[in-house]
Amino acid sequence: MENKNIIETYNLSKIYRLRNASEIKAVDEVNLKVQEGEFLTILGPSGSGKTTLLNLLGGVDRPTTGEIRIDGLELSKLTERELVKVRREKVGFVFQVFNLIPTLTALENVEVALAPTVANRSKRLERSSHLLEWVGLGRRLHHLPAELSAGEQQRIAIARAFANEPKIILLDEPTGNLDTATGREIMKMCHKANKEHYQTVVTVTHARYVREFTDRLLYMRDGKLYTQIPEEELLKSAHNLSP
Ligand SMILES: Nc1ncnc2c1ncn2[C@@H]1O[C@H](COP(=O)(O)OP(=O)(O)O)[C@@H](O)[C@H]1O
Ligand SMILES: [Mg+2]
Repeated sequence: MENKNIIETYNLSKIYRLRNASEIKAVDEVNLKVQEGEFLTILGPSGSGKTTLLNLLGGVDRPTTGEIRIDGLELSKLTERELVKVRREKVGFVFQVFNLIPTLTALENVEVALAPTVANRSKRLERSSHLLEWVGLGRRLHHLPAELSAGEQQRIAIARAFANEPKIILLDEPTGNLDTATGREIMKMCHKANKEHYQTVVTVTHARYVREFTDRLLYMRDGKLYTQIPEEELLKSAHNLSP
């Protein structure tokens, strides 16, 4: 298959202006290219701009300056309505907070994601239960989120993100709140889906072990992306300078 960039950003920035007129460059001149089918992980400490970047890529948030292209579409040129369509059809999102609807069962939480795209309810329920089986929750279909562990809730969020077979899956701290063993399981599952269905996955996290399950790793610090751990590069150059 030819190499096609499904995500491209050009000098992408998001600047927050605070009441005291100071500025935070949450995302600072980011030029990112992600190839179709790639599994990319961005590792960065809390506050480095990971969630902001992911929200920009998913069209949930608008940039201050710069450009984003998703599957060839320039997001800034789209109307709100077209953007909703892109989000719905091309992007699956797993947010840092799971965003499950507390009054709906596991099955119904996945089903709602299919409501705009699958008209027939029994088809929706069938597909939802398949998805939940796939994430290992086949025996928890009728449980409410409050009746499930954090790991199980995260699996529902993942089943939901994959529901419409989006070309792009964006995962914000998919292993947050989970013990390392469960976190590994979740990452393995996403990696398998990525390889089997040629879906592009971008995951942002501060959990270093997540790097085991990725094709490419980038590092984020103060809104900027790096191919090497910036602190280690700094140490190296300091070392080189010393006599
Ligand atoms: N709505 C906002 N208003 C002002 N500052 C914000 C807002 N959202 C995020 N920030 C700031 O932007 C920076 C990046 O935040 P975020 O993208 O959430 O980082 P991460 O996900 O890596 O923890 C932080 O310094 C944060 O305080
Ligand atoms: Mg975050």
